[in-house]
Amino acid sequence: MNFATTSAQSIQNHWVEASAPSNIALIKYMGKTDVTANKPSNSSLSYTLDKLKTFVRIKLADSGAESSTWAPYVRDDLRPIELSETGRKKFIDHLDRLKVEFKLTENFEIESANNFPSDCGLASSASSFAALTMAVYEWTKQNKNSTLSYRPKELSRLSQKGSGSSCRSFFSSWSLWHESGAEGMTLPYTYLKHQVLLCDQTVKSVSSSKAHQLVTTSDLFNGRKERAEERLKNLVSSLREQNWSAAYKICWNEFWDMHMLFHTSNPAFIYMNENSIKALRDLSEMWAKKNDGPLITMDAGSNIHLLYRPEQKAAYFDVINQFRSQMPLWTDEGYLEKL
Ligand code: DP6
Repeated sequence: MNFATTSAQSIQNHWVEASAPSNIALIKYMGKTDVTANKPSNSSLSYTLDKLKTFVRIKLADSGAESSTWAPYVRDDLRPIELSETGRKKFIDHLDRLKVEFKLTENFEIESANNFPSDCGLASSASSFAALTMAVYEWTKQNKNSTLSYRPKELSRLSQKGSGSSCRSFFSSWSLWHESGAEGMTLPYTYLKHQVLLCDQTVKSVSSSKAHQLVTTSDLFNGRKERAEERLKNLVSSLREQNWSAAYKICWNEFWDMHMLFHTSNPAFIYMNENSIKALRDLSEMWAKKNDGPLITMDAGSNIHLLYRPEQKAAYFDVINQFRSQMPLWTDEGYLEKL
């Protein structure tokens, strides 16, 4: 098991920079037992997406600044993030939490950007909050306390308080988040290829934080913890046994379970759109024909994430060819516009 390649370096003018990868859950974190600490209702398992990264840099604010500020990080090779007022507040609240942990009293300028387009519905809070946690930790080490030494598990626990799913981004390739926090998990399939069918790129009307609250009002939330824990056990066994088609079925049932919670909440909300439904139908037909294909999952959005074993090159390109006339795709090689 490796730690995810979060990295940090000190650069000119006292900026300290860090980056962290995103992750995609196959067993989903949905519902919380403690909203302020982001304690999940059930365990989750994710694959770390090393190619989707957020870069955060911080430096001391000018003396006299009354609070810390956030701005997009402008760099030629990166895509500046757009954050709503609520998004900015959530980010700065996390900085304030980290300041308490590391005994800092100064205000900071924070800048962040992704290495992928931020306007196509791919942005996740996981990579942003993990990178902010790393940046503040590194700043403290470089400027205040060179002997400060936190293990990835401890940084992950801190990051969880900012945004739950970010705690899984500290480990690679697989990350298990259960009651005692997140940790790396050794499983086969350490290298998977990743694609996203970008079914809708508009800003979501229900944030994932709001979704966590709303799902608890669904009748189907009864038994959700038990279903997720059972699937987790079965998914880990399937991956260990390298039973890919069993893993596919579990992942398929799991994301539908989460989306059904959305559809049956009070009020109900729906992320899936016509593109998602049509693509899911085509993908399941592809699986039925070949008895093989990618693992399929969806987050709290309408985009479809696909994970392939390295030898599934033909299937990977078949999907690009089949869907590119219908919608844009994100692939390990970058963004592919709709043709
Ligand atoms: C659907 O981590 O974004 O992606 O803890 O409120 O910040 P907060 O929520 P967030 O929830 C992610 C939910 C999910 C499933 C998952 O990643 O496990």
